[in-house]
Amino acid sequence: MKMKTMAALCLCMAGAAMAADDAFLLQTKNTTLALRRQHGAWNVAHYGAKVASESDAAALAWDRWAGGNHISQRRPAAYAAFGGDKEGGYGFNKWGGLQVTHADGCLTLHLVGEKVETVPDKPGATHIVLKQKDRVYPFWVIQHFRALEACDVIETWVELKNGETGAVRLGRMDSFAMDFPLLANAFRLQYTTGQWAAEAQLRETPVERGQTVAIGSRSGVRDAWENNASFMLTCGEKSTETAGRVIGGVLCWTGSWGISVQRDQCDFIEVRAGADTSAGAYVLDAGKSITLPKFAFTFSDAGKGPISRNIHRWARDWQLPAGHKPRPVLLNSWEGSYFSFTEQVLHDMMDGVKEMGGELFVLDDGWFGTGKYARDDVHRDKVGLGDWIINPEKLPHGLVGLSDEAKKRGLKFGFWVEPEMVNTNSWIYEAHPDWVIREKNRPVNVGRGGSQTVLDYSNPAVRDNIYNQLDALYSKIPDLAYIKWDANADFYNMGSTYLDAAHQANLPFDYTTGLYDLLAKVRAKYPQVDIQACSSGGGHVDYGFLRYADEFWGSDDSDARERVFIQWGESQFYPACTIAAHVTDVPNHQTHRTTPLKYRFDVAMSARLGFELHPKNMSAEDVAFAKKCVADYKRIRPTVQQGDLYRLVSPYGSSYAALMYVNDDASHAVVFLWGLTRGNWSDFVPPLALQGLAEGKSYKVKEINVVKDRHCRVDGKTLSGKALTAMGLPVRLRGDYDSAVFELTAK
Ligand code: DGJ
Repeated sequence: MKMKTMAALCLCMAGAAMAADDAFLLQTKNTTLALRRQHGAWNVAHYGAKVASESDAAALAWDRWAGGNHISQRRPAAYAAFGGDKEGGYGFNKWGGLQVTHADGCLTLHLVGEKVETVPDKPGATHIVLKQKDRVYPFWVIQHFRALEACDVIETWVELKNGETGAVRLGRMDSFAMDFPLLANAFRLQYTTGQWAAEAQLRETPVERGQTVAIGSRSGVRDAWENNASFMLTCGEKSTETAGRVIGGVLCWTGSWGISVQRDQCDFIEVRAGADTSAGAYVLDAGKSITLPKFAFTFSDAGKGPISRNIHRWARDWQLPAGHKPRPVLLNSWEGSYFSFTEQVLHDMMDGVKEMGGELFVLDDGWFGTGKYARDDVHRDKVGLGDWIINPEKLPHGLVGLSDEAKKRGLKFGFWVEPEMVNTNSWIYEAHPDWVIREKNRPVNVGRGGSQTVLDYSNPAVRDNIYNQLDALYSKIPDLAYIKWDANADFYNMGSTYLDAAHQANLPFDYTTGLYDLLAKVRAKYPQVDIQACSSGGGHVDYGFLRYADEFWGSDDSDARERVFIQWGESQFYPACTIAAHVTDVPNHQTHRTTPLKYRFDVAMSARLGFELHPKNMSAEDVAFAKKCVADYKRIRPTVQQGDLYRLVSPYGSSYAALMYVNDDASHAVVFLWGLTRGNWSDFVPPLALQGLAEGKSYKVKEINVVKDRHCRVDGKTLSGKALTAMGLPVRLRGDYDSAVFELTAK
């Protein structure tokens, strides 16, 4: 078949899709997704480095992959569905990211592309819609591709439309299910895994021939605690930060999810990502449509570093609500006071953070609940969730009083809520025991505090109640600047008293869309307010939540040494402006490790800096050091929060780690170096070969956050970007938890 393109359209549009009946090239700055229609179905001709010529793409594209075995006799689908196409004359796909049971019981889909449309979009985005329909049944799969030119990211999402006379059951409902024939003959999957206070640990595994490697979350709520909904797939034996062919992807979804790479016996690869259906098939009623979560993907032929930078840029430019807004230096009250605070304690904290140059004060858990359900120092986390009423015993002047106190000090104000949960010990649960996720005929399982469980957000009345409670609080605080949105439970039960018997399995998906509905309402009414996604630490680290939230709490483990690893893992897909990193007290409350204050600052300043301690416990010397660090952070903040990240030395398998950020015109860079547990005198640190600098520019090197020792013999000197790249920055570390930060300014 001839691959046709509309060259004129291509020439006049940056990042253009060249759309025609049978084929098109969807272009970004450095990548091409070439799709073509064969026997009616949309298949992948190429995804990877840019191909400019449509005739080359047509000549080199895969037709079908047989591999001497008819099981694999199939074409690489742009969206693989379970079933086959006898009319097309090729094999039956027993995989597929979409599996439907039609109203009459038929189990297969034979998708045929009906038409392609280019949808108007913002400058820099090319939006193509492929409308596909089953050959026989009135069931549509409408697949969107949105190519974002500058960041080399393509977003895709799928709408399913049931035009049948009865309900269709979705056994699998992945957002992305793309097939790639013979990309390479070795594959490796990088992902992160973890648990409470140990999130985002980086792992990589080969995907051997005949294997399926799958990651996922079944939490329902804390979707990012175990695995993160993101991956990098190396096509070839190996990739590094700077070399190798890599496909990276993120699923924008806050509920349970699954991502898998299936490599068949003939090296045909199917990559799938989507909402999880472990609870049962989703029931899509007659005449109804459903939009599946967005998936964003990118490609690099220069290793993993560009994958991170592409996704970071995409996040700031296209996904976050305000990705270019500077993130404030704040103090969160949690580790400084836990549940034990008075107004005076909080005012003292405000004084302390103000003195150190902070910009925002955040009151954490423990301010709400009344009567027998007051979340006081005795009952702590056992009561009160869901009753968003100020506890007058603890806060006689309320949240407005605190906000006023913050304002008096020139600070902004925000506070904590946990809107997705209730304690069974609460007024709301007493009145509405049917508002929680529960099985009709079983007792309710609970988690934290022996009484915490999850609200049923598939029920609009529940969402409305919580919205109205929150709105009543937020609307009284004219200068409200920040909401910490926590979530400390999983689906301990599986059932809804709102959904009827036939639709019980819709609960996990409908819960998450209900959550988004609530978040969207809060965002719309309070657009100026920053939202932090928190979920027992890093449980809500995903780009579904980050459509509404500006940042996330990286982990409840605030130990700086542990944070080197956690933030390293999170940096694979999340930019520094989204990673909240707080300087806390020592011995650290989670690990009992003591690290120097400088080390704690050096780690936290590589992300969104904050504090989580009571400043009154700091010595005058520490406060003076903190003041200097905060002032320096404000200067380097644009580069750290908005710059390109280059990971230089991984903490995995090393006794130190280093990374750097470079601003857009390479006129400013910041280098972070952190020692871990260090070896003997032979544990040398070779010069750090810097990246991202302009070869033609010269940079003045300046060490900041200096306590006593300096860590670089060229501190204060001006050196060329070329030499700093080729020969590296000479640095040294002494002893455990030594660290350094260098600022490089182009002269
Ligand atoms: C879990 C969060 O991760 C902490 O930061 C803190 O907000 C507590 N919940 C409060 O209960």
